[in-house]
Amino acid sequence: MSSKESWGSRVGLVLAMAGNAVGLGNFLRFPAQAINNGGGAFIIPYLVCFLLMGLPLLFVEWSMGRFGGQYGDHSTPFILNSMAPKKQKLWKYVGVFGIFTNLAVAAYYCYLESWTLSYVWHSISGSFHGQTREQVGDFFNQYVSLGTSEPVIFWVICLTLNTWILSRGLSGGVERAAKIGMPLLIMFGIFLAVRGVTLAAGESGAVNDGTVGLNFLWTPKFESIWDFKVWLAAAGQIFFTLSVGMGSIQCYASYLRQRDDVALNAMSAGWMNEFVEVCLGAAILIPIGVGYLGIDQVKTMVAGGSGFGLGFQTLPYLFQQWGPVLAAIAGMAWFGLLFFAGITSSLAMGTPIMGFLQDEFGWKRQASAWAFGFAVMVLGLPTVVFYNYGVFGEYDYWAGTVSLVVFAMLEIILFAWIFGMDKGWKEITRGADIRVPEMFKFIIKYVTPVILVGVFLGSLFSAGGIIDTIMNKAIHKQIAAAQAASDMATVDRLNTQLLYVNGSRLLLLSVFAGIAWMVYRAQMKRERTGKA
Ligand code: ALA
Repeated sequence: MSSKESWGSRVGLVLAMAGNAVGLGNFLRFPAQAINNGGGAFIIPYLVCFLLMGLPLLFVEWSMGRFGGQYGDHSTPFILNSMAPKKQKLWKYVGVFGIFTNLAVAAYYCYLESWTLSYVWHSISGSFHGQTREQVGDFFNQYVSLGTSEPVIFWVICLTLNTWILSRGLSGGVERAAKIGMPLLIMFGIFLAVRGVTLAAGESGAVNDGTVGLNFLWTPKFESIWDFKVWLAAAGQIFFTLSVGMGSIQCYASYLRQRDDVALNAMSAGWMNEFVEVCLGAAILIPIGVGYLGIDQVKTMVAGGSGFGLGFQTLPYLFQQWGPVLAAIAGMAWFGLLFFAGITSSLAMGTPIMGFLQDEFGWKRQASAWAFGFAVMVLGLPTVVFYNYGVFGEYDYWAGTVSLVVFAMLEIILFAWIFGMDKGWKEITRGADIRVPEMFKFIIKYVTPVILVGVFLGSLFSAGGIIDTIMNKAIHKQIAAAQAASDMATVDRLNTQLLYVNGSRLLLLSVFAGIAWMVYRAQMKRERTGKA
């Protein structure tokens, strides 16, 4: 995406931005996090984090992007550079996060996206028809263990599709995909949500009404506000779902004109994401899961936090209870909506890398799109082949969780304290089609940075946090337990897992270093050509 690119229409831009935010996180991760963190206990911290961290970051990232765009910068290294004083040269290396995160998240995300494509096919062709719950669950286990070549085929199809759409540019590719994908997603979502909420106990084997699951989620439990772990989980979900701290919003916004509105656009895309997450995302997996299995079983199933067990291993089985025709339609709608949610997000992950290659190294759009596709394939391969060894989870943790917090914390410090809040406020309100409440000036300057520093320190030091993860505390604990039980097979398996886990970290670190090196080269080139 180069400076010659632009958005075709405002509707297209907002849909693309909403598509960037609305993703697999809305339908799988959100319900799993909500259940894991006590249902109604989660929702208060979640909404507070949205208002005090999510919305302010949306304003900041949209205006940062539009600001950098006027200098022809479309990726965070040089967007940050354009906002920092000339002497502070290190900010562009902070911007490395905004390329690294997109690449590394796309690497595992596109694989997940390809599962949904395959499951659409299997739902329509009736593969799950007549299968027991165990068989449907085993289908998934076989799938991720690469029992056949099918996962690889769907993965390659998915990557090719992403790359092809990206190679058609912003208005001809990304915007068009969003205009098709988002309405379909919402239509499928409404259909399933209505089905979920109106599920009645006794109907086709359901033990609870659909509303039982909803009540669990929506009955506020105020004592949770003292539980720091719940706050961390809520903050993490807000990051992931809004795609803030990633670098993709800045990239999309960098193709705006200088007098284009950012305030209303940011609000529209952000609220659309919240509508999809809390209204649709909450009304499918939880009511249907709780309807058939009860709260306790659902809680055990999402204990890891991903929602895969429920979304891929159980839902296709539960749909079968509705008869073959409705099961096929529901399966197609569920996995179809996941696919559209996924692809409109992964396309957004491609644009910063493409923008960087085009701005700094003069690559053509097509070439940069294929370079992205190739890089995602190489970096994603370990998540496909070694899925069962925790590689997928490592990528998600470091790129999809930790990096977002670190980058968001640093960028808001740059925006509010170094670029300066007065200038920053002018950026947010310039060309605005709404009056942004003045209190956001205070929130962006003080409240959001303090929350972000708190979240970062919390994630660093809390039990099971960053430091514990680096030390592999959880795996070592399991090894010790297996040794005590003389279970040498488990000890061996965990030791192998340690190897893969450490290997993936090293790989991710080298990717980060590689991008930093490219930024350095780009800077040298700018200095040579007098652009610096
Ligand atoms: N924001 C995207 C999601 O929710 C990444 O999946």
